[in-house]
Amino acid sequence: MLDVKGIHTYYGLSHILFDVSLTVSKGEVVGLLGRNGAGKSTTMRSIMGLTPPKEGSISFNGDNITGQKPYLLFRKGIGYVPDDRRVFADLSVDDNLEIVHNRKTDWNKERVYELFPALSEIKTRRAGNLSGGEQQMLTIARALMGSPELLLLDEPTEGLAPLIVRDLEEQILKLKDAGISILLSEQNVRSALKMISRAYVIDNGSIRFAGTVSELEANDEVKKKYLMV
Ligand SMILES: Nc1ncnc2c1ncn2[C@@H]1O[C@H](COP(=O)(O)OP(=O)(O)OP(=O)(O)O)[C@@H](O)[C@H]1O
Ligand SMILES: [Mg+2]
Repeated sequence: MLDVKGIHTYYGLSHILFDVSLTVSKGEVVGLLGRNGAGKSTTMRSIMGLTPPKEGSISFNGDNITGQKPYLLFRKGIGYVPDDRRVFADLSVDDNLEIVHNRKTDWNKERVYELFPALSEIKTRRAGNLSGGEQQMLTIARALMGSPELLLLDEPTEGLAPLIVRDLEEQILKLKDAGISILLSEQNVRSALKMISRAYVIDNGSIRFAGTVSELEANDEVKKKYLMV
């Protein structure tokens, strides 16, 4: 479904990603694991056309999408939840969802509230007043309104309390059950391992490991060197 081939991405003159390749197949939850500054967000931003790669290519369902604008990718079925949890602070939870509602898609508010009952209970609250965990849930819910086939989740558990992280893990597993493919970036390897079936480990802008969860669990060198677990 998603095929990233040998991308090189720069911020100005700084070369950040070196020959990054990865794939996500239909129905898979794939981890992009790595420490602070490893290149996880830059990889997501490269896929979303926010910092397009200078070399390499990205395809989605066979279409070349390298450097395409985010709104076009949203329409093609790629949902993106960036690391900054930006909600429309002055709008209610319900209006945050309504504003991105596209009548042609098969997801709507009712279906989102069914998946996230906790959001339904706070639908009239001002989004800016929600807790970090609630805002994260809302940004994921908002991405769902575009009926994504593939979701890019950039460190969804970052900065959240352990109890909230567990709720979020359950919700992400529900998305998987709903048939959505997910590329999940995480520093929190223990949390990610509960949700993913395959992982890529990135460090210093290069992929250092690619394999199944059991292969990763058995690889002490990769875990120690790049993940500190
Ligand atoms: N806008 C920018 N301009 C210049 N360099 C940047 C910019 N954003 C990130 N970088 C650099 O690119 C490298 C990769 O950063 P990136 O944000 O992709 O890492 P990350 O794996 O997402 O880290 P984190 O876990 O902290 O979110 C880092 O060295 C970072 O300092
Ligand atoms: Mg990041």
